[in-house]
Amino acid sequence: MIMQYRTINVSASRCYNIHIGRGLLAGIGELVRPLLGHCRLAVLTDSNVDALYGNAMMQYLTSAGYDVCKYVIPAGEASKCAENLLAFLNFLAREQMTRSDAVIAFGGGVVGDLGGLSASLYLRGIKYIQVPTTLLAAVDSSVGGKTAIDIPAGKNLVGSFYQPSMVCCDTALMDTLPAEIYRDGCAEVIKYGMILDAALYDTLHTLPFDREAVVARCVEIKRDVVQQDEFDNGIRGLLNFGHTFGHAIEKLSNFGVSHGEAVAKGMVIAARIAPLCGLCNVADELSALLVEYGFDITCGYSAGEIYDALLSDKKRRGGNISVVLPRAVGDCVLHTIPVEELKELLHKVI
Ligand SMILES: NC(=O)c1ccc[n+]([C@@H]2O[C@H](COP(=O)([O-])OP(=O)(O)OC[C@H]3O[C@@H](n4cnc5c(N)ncnc54)[C@H](O)[C@@H]3O)[C@@H](O)[C@H]2O)c1
Repeated sequence: MIMQYRTINVSASRCYNIHIGRGLLAGIGELVRPLLGHCRLAVLTDSNVDALYGNAMMQYLTSAGYDVCKYVIPAGEASKCAENLLAFLNFLAREQMTRSDAVIAFGGGVVGDLGGLSASLYLRGIKYIQVPTTLLAAVDSSVGGKTAIDIPAGKNLVGSFYQPSMVCCDTALMDTLPAEIYRDGCAEVIKYGMILDAALYDTLHTLPFDREAVVARCVEIKRDVVQQDEFDNGIRGLLNFGHTFGHAIEKLSNFGVSHGEAVAKGMVIAARIAPLCGLCNVADELSALLVEYGFDITCGYSAGEIYDALLSDKKRRGGNISVVLPRAVGDCVLHTIPVEELKELLHKVI
């Protein structure tokens, strides 16, 4: 018997439910059964999640009558690589998984992205279920069907759009997240408030926030955006608020600055640029909230360094670059700026 949980429905190239609740993992068998019937399940997870919750996951699924196998990758971004993709595909083949079987991606964004891509490729596509265990994965990477691995030429350069068949988000799993990893997810939560929901943003001033309610609201926002632009040709770009500058900072730091901290710094740069483009000035308000969450919002790099790093960013189109700027708290727009102009703007705000 499953306790209370919320369900958000996504209607994209595949329709699926996102279930969110504290303690929901114990009911995963019940949630999976109507969806997949009797099948084999391959759980992909990482070494940290496996040590904490691997046995529980296996027990919940086997006691629900499922035949389950498990594949564990080392924790960390380095695991989101071609070698692990091939190794996991080989594992699925050795386990004789068929097209009616399914993958369960049990972990943060690394496991989710690798598991989703593997499921999209194996036998030309088998079903997969996302069971996010980080705040970032819950509000962002498990929703919307973007899958990827990193290759030596860059992050997320190989991937697919492939929607899961279900997302099962047990918010209690996040209790064991190291503080910095939880905070990385908070940067994404603040991003959702800034781009589309001033009411959500306001609730974030009360710490700690109501995790279930906040995760559910972020997932609804992402769902609404993905339903309008599943393949990222327009409005989905709004989700990149803070990310264009953030990616430049991550790259410059050789990934020493965490993703969340880089996004926080990137959002502040964007908010400072906005009034110079005739939009409103929310930079002080946003900076104050980010500092409340413990983010160091100083850029740490010169305008010239950020500009050079940006030029190799994939969001650059010809002589223009697309950035997301705030018009107000809860209202951001995609803004196209000639790269030369951006250079001057960066010199004014950094
Ligand atoms: N597909 C998308 O739309 C999308 C969106 C945003 C980010 N991403 C990708 O997501 C990845 C980042 O995701 P992430 O921040 O979740 O990183 P991650 O998967 O590396 O997890 C971060 C760390 O937390 C540990 N961890 C996970 N769950 C835990 C738990 N419950 N308790 C304790 N430790 C736990 C992991 O082992 C890891 O060490 C990046 O590769 C990024 O490119 C994808």
